Amino acid sequence: MAMVLPKLKPRHHHYVILLLSCTIILCLYFENTWMLLTDNYHVSKRAACVNRTCAPDRERTDWFCARYAPTVQLLLNSSNSALSAPLSSWWRGLQVVKHVANYTALVRNLFPLFPDQKPCSDSHPNHCRTCAVVGNSGNLLGSRYGPLIDSKDCVMRINKGPTGGFEEDVGLKTTHRIFYPESAMDLDNSTHLVFSPFKILDIEWLISVFTTKHITKTYTDVPSTININRDKVMILHPEFMKYVHVNWTENHGRYPSTGFLTVIFALHICDEVHVFGFGATKDGKWHHYFDQTLTPYANESHAGDFEYKTIIRLHREKKLLMYKGWT
Ligand code: C5P
Repeated sequence: MAMVLPKLKPRHHHYVILLLSCTIILCLYFENTWMLLTDNYHVSKRAACVNRTCAPDRERTDWFCARYAPTVQLLLNSSNSALSAPLSSWWRGLQVVKHVANYTALVRNLFPLFPDQKPCSDSHPNHCRTCAVVGNSGNLLGSRYGPLIDSKDCVMRINKGPTGGFEEDVGLKTTHRIFYPESAMDLDNSTHLVFSPFKILDIEWLISVFTTKHITKTYTDVPSTININRDKVMILHPEFMKYVHVNWTENHGRYPSTGFLTVIFALHICDEVHVFGFGATKDGKWHHYFDQTLTPYANESHAGDFEYKTIIRLHREKKLLMYKGWT
């Protein structure tokens, strides 16, 4: 049966157009209101996600703009592995125990083993990628952040931070784990390793794990073999490490902590960054949710206080959301 539409006089067309415009404006208004109600923190980020870019065009402030470099090399790959002389000298300067090795020859062996990775390969163009960065601070104990952490698309854990036995407070999902040889652990097949090479021997260790398995010691004992899916290996670029040290920690400490590197990495590859498990005890000690160690928060390697204050500043500027925990 054909639908009979009433014949409109020309002046009625204006009313129809007006009615349609009002409907569209109302729809847009209510959609925004809903977003404000459900996601009131990330209002500015929504705009960024509309850009469908991996490193979103965030709301700019002078402080942020002076630090954030959208084009910095995040990952080492077969086409960007050459290091400038100043970068090479900064990076080699991090080594405590001097170790001579031919970097160029080494990276030649590296990339046939690990396919080049794009840090955003698992992002979706129509979806805002949410990330949880989970540090190892004792302030996670009793927090019950687990379900909130697991609700994010990516969950990035650091060094040996365990989930087993702490699920209620830290969650159980892990999509990325950031470590270096001395803090390495077995990963399941779906987890990305974001490898943090603080020295040239670390790159040799990674190659050794997948080939000869002969490296068992750096400045301490390290595992000669470990379970890692080689298709999921990402290697932080020394340029990125230096960038974090110079731009974000402003040369405080000798080099950034693995956790702080992860926060800035997430800022570059995620649309929303939620930070958990960072911060010292009330008397300024570096503590863990999974053991009893207590060490000074600012130590000879890392400027824990400065990193913490920078995360708080990023929170105040709405570039990430920091969850302070309970203890
Ligand atoms: O102790 P660990 O280095 O394994 O912790 C992982 C990261 O969590 C650190 O690199 C640091 O950035 C963060 N952390 C923190 N406060 C603590 C313990 C760890 O901010 N009390």
